[in-house]
Formats: sequence, structure tokens, C-alpha cells
Amino acid sequence: MNFLGRYPKTLIVVSHDLNLLDTKVDKILEVNIQTHKIDEYAGNYSSYLKLKEDKEALLVRHIRIQEQHIRQMKEGLLKMSHFKSKKGIRIKLMVQRRVEELEENLPAMPPAAKKIKMKLPEPVWVGEMPIMAEHLSKAYGNKKVLTNVNFDIKRGERIALMGPNGAGKSTLIKILIRLITPDEGEMVFDEKIKIGYYSQEFEMFDFDKTLLETMKDKCQIEERIIRGLLGRFLFSGEMVFQKVGSLSGGEKTRLAIALLLVQNYNLLILDEPTTYLDVLSQRLILEALKMYEGAMIVVSHTPEFISELKPSRKFYLPENRMELVQYYLGNNCL
Ligand SMILES: Nc1ncnc2c1ncn2[C@@H]1O[C@H](COP(=O)(O)OP(=O)(O)OP(=O)(O)O)[C@@H](O)[C@H]1O
Ligand SMILES: [Mg+2]
Repeated sequence: MNFLGRYPKTLIVVSHDLNLLDTKVDKILEVNIQTHKIDEYAGNYSSYLKLKEDKEALLVRHIRIQEQHIRQMKEGLLKMSHFKSKKGIRIKLMVQRRVEELEENLPAMPPAAKKIKMKLPEPVWVGEMPIMAEHLSKAYGNKKVLTNVNFDIKRGERIALMGPNGAGKSTLIKILIRLITPDEGEMVFDEKIKIGYYSQEFEMFDFDKTLLETMKDKCQIEERIIRGLLGRFLFSGEMVFQKVGSLSGGEKTRLAIALLLVQNYNLLILDEPTTYLDVLSQRLILEALKMYEGAMIVVSHTPEFISELKPSRKFYLPENRMELVQYYLGNNCL
């Protein structure tokens, strides 16, 4: 961030990091998903939000006025239904054409943050302590990454796994999902444990399948319901027939989280689920994850995401330190 802030030449940056966009840029170019054009806003992210809000309020007013106009013209048309003369029919046709023209040119409403409403399947029942790991150590060659790490997770608990780049968070996760083996230590798993795993490598996907095929493979429910579900995760219309490999980074993440949530895992392990997500998608995923009742281990470098998920404990690497998180509501400790 400091380097980018001091960079003396022109800089074009694509980022969902609001802090960066607020402090290090002086112009925002937005790809408008409705008009498919580039909109330009002078100033940083905060001023962009303000300008955009004003612009959208104006657009909404314009749409409302147009809609009212169309309604009135349609009412007029109804009243003309008894017109049978040549002139009368010509007028009716003219009005009808005008209505069609207005309807065709009516701009779409600006997209709003959708509140996601859905019923998630209940996680498969699991014992009190789904995972207990003791004295884990892992080195890559001479490089020690984890040393005597003790880690457990309780049923339904959310743990945030914290630490700087290279601290060993992904390594610990890969040990927990048994993708790699520790050099030392012991792990006890409840036999009923069912782990859902997300990482930015998207190992769970067959990139040649469509969104619909991918969902169908994972959950045995009707196509109609699957399409409704995909719609809640902002995949609608023809998009369900798109190949997974051709999705953007953020879209792949949205699909991956949708897939995790429709199965009945009792532990979700999410390794940086917010990296590709824009503000709206981040909110959507957050609301969906909040509804999940199983246990969760989450790594994220987006502090707001972690604080909104309200983990009960935070585990810090490389310190190997577990910390209880307490939430305060007025004077009452939750
Ligand atoms: N297969 C490997 N071979 C050698 N070194 C590795 C290997 N995998 C990871 N490392 C090293 O181990 C350290 C921990 O990596 P890890 O991916 O667990 O970090 P992390 O905490 O997840 O970091 P980030 O926040 O950047 O994702 C890093 O220094 C990394 O370079
Ligand atoms: Mg990592």
C-alpha cells in the first residue's frame, strides 16, 4: 500500500480492498454492469459511493416517472378500446407503439444488496469435539512452519485462524483436512465428521461442467429448486449453463460457497473466501455463512468479515496462541 501510494507514475489498479481504494487512488473507473460502459468518478472510494448514490437516486426517480407515464398511457389505451374508425385505430396503434418504445428503453433499476433468504440443511450430527489435534509440527525441508501446535474445535463453534502471510495457516488447514501429514503430533477426528473445504485453488470443481451440472452432482434435489438456489447466489438465466472454468474469480467463490452450504457438512474450513469478492458479494456470502449452524474455521485478511462472523475463538500463528473472543453489548458480556 505504501509503495503504491508513493508510486510517482500512473497506476491502474483492480482491487476490492476498500482501504486501498480510499487512501491511494484519486479517480475511480467503474465498469457499469447495466450499461456495459465505463463510468468515471473523480475522487476516492468514499466520494465515488456518494456520487454513485446521488446518481442512482436520480435514475430511480427517472424510472418511477417513466413507469407512471407508461401506466397512464396504458389506461388511456383501455379507454380507447371501443375506437373502431380508421383514425381511431391509427391513434391506438400510435399510442401502443409509444408504450412499447418507452418500455423497451426503460433503464433497469440499480442493483441493491440482496438479503439472502434460504433454509440451509441441518449439519450431520457430530460429537462434542469434532477435531482435536495435539503437538502438531510441520517443516518443509529445513523450514519449520508449525511447532507443537495444539488445536481443537467444538461442535458448532467458529474459529478465526489469524496470522501474516506465510505463518502456516493454509498448512495447518491442509493437515486438518488430511491433504498433508504432519511430521509429528496426533489428531483425533470424530467418526461422524463431514468437512467442507474452500480454497482459492478451487480443487472442488470440474471446470468443464456447467454451474447446473456442478450443483446437480452435489445435491440430489430438483432442478427447479437448484436454479432458485443459484439465483439467490446471483446466478440467473442463461448463466446456469456457463462452464465453471469460465467464471470470474468472484463468481467461482460464490458458487463454491453455495455448494458448501447446500450440503450437510458439520465443519466448514474456509481459506480466504473473501479475496475475489466485491462489496455486494462479500455481504451476500457473509449473510449466508451466518445462517450456517455447523462449526467453522475461517482464514481471512478482511478484518470486517471476521468481526461480522463473530468467531468464538481466534487462533494466532505463528504464536500458537488460542484466544477467547468476547462480545460486549452495552454492559452485558455475551
Ligand atoms: N510445499 C511447500 N514446500 C515448501 N515450502 C512451503 C510449501 N508449502 C508452504 N510452504 C511455505 O510454508 C510457509 C507457510 O505457508 P502457508 O501457505 O501455510 O502460509 P499462510 O499462513 O497460509 O499464508 P497466506 O496468508 O499468504 O496464505 C510459507 O513460508 C511457504 O512458503
Ligand atoms: Mg494461506
